[in-house]
Amino acid sequence: MCGIVGYIGSRGAFPILFDGLKKLEYRGYDSAGVAIIEGNEMQLRKSQGNLEVLGEKLKNENFQGRIGLGHTRWATHGKPSDANAHPHLDCRGRLALVHNGIIENFQEIKRKLEEEGHFFSSETDTEVVVHLVEKFFQGDLVKAVRRATKELEGSYAIAVINCESPEQIVAYRHDSPLILGIGDGEFFLASDIPALLPYTRRVLILEDGEMAELNRTNFRVFDSHGVQIQKEIEEIDWDPEMAEKKGFSHYMLKEIHEQPDVLRRLLSDPLQGSGLELPQIASILERLEKINRIFVVACGTAYHSGLIGKALLERTTGIPVEVDMASEFRYRSPLVGEESLVIVVTQSGETADTLAALRYAREKNAQTLGIINVKGSTISREADDVIYIKAGPEIAVASTKAYLNMVAAFYLLALKMGQGNVDQENLKELLRLLRGIPAQLEKVLQKGDKAVREASEYLSRWENAFFVGRGLDFSLALEGALKLKEISYIHAEAYAAGELKHGTLALIEEGIPVVALLTQEKLLEKMISNVQEIRARGGYVLGITQEKLAQRLEGEVDFIMTVPSTEDMLTPLLATVPLQLLSFYTAELRGCPIDQPRNLAKSVTVE
Ligand code: AGP
Repeated sequence: MCGIVGYIGSRGAFPILFDGLKKLEYRGYDSAGVAIIEGNEMQLRKSQGNLEVLGEKLKNENFQGRIGLGHTRWATHGKPSDANAHPHLDCRGRLALVHNGIIENFQEIKRKLEEEGHFFSSETDTEVVVHLVEKFFQGDLVKAVRRATKELEGSYAIAVINCESPEQIVAYRHDSPLILGIGDGEFFLASDIPALLPYTRRVLILEDGEMAELNRTNFRVFDSHGVQIQKEIEEIDWDPEMAEKKGFSHYMLKEIHEQPDVLRRLLSDPLQGSGLELPQIASILERLEKINRIFVVACGTAYHSGLIGKALLERTTGIPVEVDMASEFRYRSPLVGEESLVIVVTQSGETADTLAALRYAREKNAQTLGIINVKGSTISREADDVIYIKAGPEIAVASTKAYLNMVAAFYLLALKMGQGNVDQENLKELLRLLRGIPAQLEKVLQKGDKAVREASEYLSRWENAFFVGRGLDFSLALEGALKLKEISYIHAEAYAAGELKHGTLALIEEGIPVVALLTQEKLLEKMISNVQEIRARGGYVLGITQEKLAQRLEGEVDFIMTVPSTEDMLTPLLATVPLQLLSFYTAELRGCPIDQPRNLAKSVTVE
């Protein structure tokens, strides 16, 4: 939620800030702005709308300043508008500040500051912070920022520049991510790594309570007591190209096409020998006997991966698994204890509810495991153990490759945790098939998407759609429906196919599209009956199945899309691709802004 960037060095700041904001636009895109110190003056430019709007406004400007801040916003307090866009200035226009997060006690602070004579230009929570810095500034920006943060409640990553000390950026992190990029005689800061990649791979991740001061030749980091500390600089192994579109029209399409490679990357170490190696869970395996319940906690797409995880883990380990939406978890007082394993799943590693769920689990002394994409993220640093899903930067708001690798991580986890219970020949065969999935995904993507495009043409004309499936296919149906809603704005609901007749069948009318997941051979007959019920009431069934089952579906569905054949247990890894493409093409036909759907942001750092 909101992306912030900063630059200080010998180059012009504006192109670097603007380029960084482009990489962070997935975090919010309802308004954007920059503040640059030119000579001794603060130049502030901001505007409602996405970066393109700001870029258009600024196309004839010629900024010279070599220090500045930028921000791309996802509104929380105050609607998207020019005035509410960041950066925000103090009363005299000498200080500029950007913020990611929420200041919970801003009303109270604002009232006091107004009484003291400060005047406000926006409805945001953020503006109080810059006025507090103004209030406490007595010649030392580091001290003023530290003093100001003592007044704040909530989550915030902030960065401040000051015309009175134009050789300095001060940044502070509390519960919202902030990363420093260490260049050669220049320094950067950003909410996420992709913004830094074109300039440096040397990064320093601030922890909660830490403050950084960047100047033209050096940087300093202070701990929560204000004591200067030495932190280790990390080398990021993502290459800058990974965060580019590489000739695809959209990040989402590029990310869909990256899936064979990212899956290969995830599987390569665990499956390099003849068995399955997963040293990341050594401590879990040591305590396996003691674990009596597993909780999987996540949001959105990551939650859907957890539903598949549940089915796999219960099947292989025999341990009961509960899957919770992170936003609900801690409020239902779940029976988490020392003998629980709590698995949190998250692409960003920053989702506020997932983080709160992890902290709740840790308070209850549960063992915790993260299935996470972003290295160095808050959740990756707080979980006891982590399986990184190695999907690389995912920029499109709609998650695709991260979902695939989350699901794949659950296969690795379930097979490793359950290897004592699973028949060894069966295990060998599953591992062999798993190794072959990246090549099968390549086939799905290479074979051309004619069928999926045709299905999308049909789907794109409707405002309502259903997704149905049984077992693993039902979990996949939930993800398919979310993807369609998220990027095409078609109202889509997923149902366990056997449930329709308990109410929802009433909604089936002539022609309504129903995407039926028919990949589970063992459940095929039952699914065919459910599909007949739908078709008998006029529903138009778009089926997705394995090649080996296609013949049995002839005449049973209106339209068929196939994926290569495999074991029932592994089909979600393949069938997810036509679902992703179906949403993508449908959204494209409807002219939707696919990478940046309305009202959303990629990284949800507010509860
Ligand atoms: C899916 O396409 C989403 N944009 C969304 O549901 C996402 O999966 C969710 O917000 C969780 O994010 P996380 O994986 O970064 O925790």
